[in-house]
Amino acid sequence: MKPSHLLPVASTLLALLAGFSPPAAAQPEPGRPPRAGSPEALFPSQTVPKNERERKILAVLEDMDKTQRRGSLSVPVNDGRLLRILAESIGAKQVVELGTSIGYSGLWFCLALESTDGRLTTFEIDEGRAATARANFKRAGVEDRVKLVLGDAHEKVVSVEGPVDLVFLDADKEGYLDYLEKLLPKLRPGGLVVAHNMSGGQADPRYVKAITTNPELETVFVSAGASGIGVTMKKR
Ligand SMILES: C[S@@+](CC[C@H](N)C(=O)[O-])C[C@H]1O[C@@H](n2cnc3c(N)ncnc32)[C@H](O)[C@@H]1O
Repeated sequence: MKPSHLLPVASTLLALLAGFSPPAAAQPEPGRPPRAGSPEALFPSQTVPKNERERKILAVLEDMDKTQRRGSLSVPVNDGRLLRILAESIGAKQVVELGTSIGYSGLWFCLALESTDGRLTTFEIDEGRAATARANFKRAGVEDRVKLVLGDAHEKVVSVEGPVDLVFLDADKEGYLDYLEKLLPKLRPGGLVVAHNMSGGQADPRYVKAITTNPELETVFVSAGASGIGVTMKKR
């Protein structure tokens, strides 16, 4: 990989390691240091829409945050922003997500895929959540970018055709190793496997072992609130 191509990824990871900020609603004035005693140690930030397409998707995300978050198990807003940065900085054309829920993280990926002209394949076992996700993708105007597969992802994921640029694991935690084994051969060199809920109490130790002992992989864990995210790169 040319050094210039490493820059976006490197700067992304630096941003990750630097930390996360509170949701847009709680933002103080841009550029102002965090308040003394604030749980956030770093500067707050928010996504500023670049164009009408972004504005439309962000409006749906904001509405979902306000009216649909409860019980949806959606990632926190800054985790979503991180997913978008990761996908867009590696120029992802094909993102595969395990665990759609109502489409919140999927929509963050769509912000990236709008600029890379890529596609999202996302798997959900729950019919009701899948229906809500479809409606959310539609009102954000990204339904043509998204293939939502209803059913048990452990079975359905074998239908994915590579090359995959980014895999996001956010379904059944004990299933992460199985998803990794099925999708790693389809991940392109330089591609990422991003795993949510990687904090000590939640992560499956078998998955953690797999991503931290394989010499073909480079993994770093970042702390995004309580969740913990594993970012694993398939080496070139
Ligand atoms: C944490 S939620 C996903 C949240 C979503 N990624 C977001 O942040 O917007 C996990 C989802 O995985 C789904 N799920 C669990 N096991 C699954 C399986 N075997 N196949 C497909 N989906 C599954 C659940 O129904 C649930 O909606």
